Amino acid sequence: ATGDAAAGEKVFAKCKACHSIVDAGGDTIVKGGRTGPNLYGIYTRVAGADEDFASKYGGSMIEAGEAGLAWNEQDFIAYVQDPRAFLQNYLDDRKARTKMSFKLRKEDDARNLWAYLVSVGPE
Ligand code: HEM
Repeated sequence: ATGDAAAGEKVFAKCKACHSIVDAGGDTIVKGGRTGPNLYGIYTRVAGADEDFASKYGGSMIEAGEAGLAWNEQDFIAYVQDPRAFLQNYLDDRKARTKMSFKLRKEDDARNLWAYLVSVGPE
């Protein structure tokens, strides 16, 4: 990761409204909302693959995972800046939609968040 994990931890305050970070053993790293999927180990995951969130993903997110999207720094940064535009572009489908109604405008914030999520996740 190329960002600053400590800075990213602060930015995560914006994500916490909807996302928690809970490790594989069930221990809570960040207690947040449940509107969005658990972000633990997001960098090891295929898009739309949190089993506890399975029935709540939007169709476009599931489709993206089936089409081969696995989260990496570059795609994560683009996604959080504009989830709907990212999915439309990834799926080459202007009808693609997202259930994440939040945009993180600053690229540096997104880069730092990625570093933070890597720092609290599995190896
Ligand atoms: C999905 C990151 C803020 C609601 C996701 C995913 C990521 C992500 C990476 C895809 C997860 C996966 O494939 O399993 C973030 C980050 C945030 C943020 C880093 C802060 C900058 C929010 C906020 C909300 C939200 C504030 C609620 C208002 C959701 C929902 C989904 C989602 C509902 C599922 C989307 C779908 O199925 O279309 N988020 N998120 N997120 N997020 Fe966020």
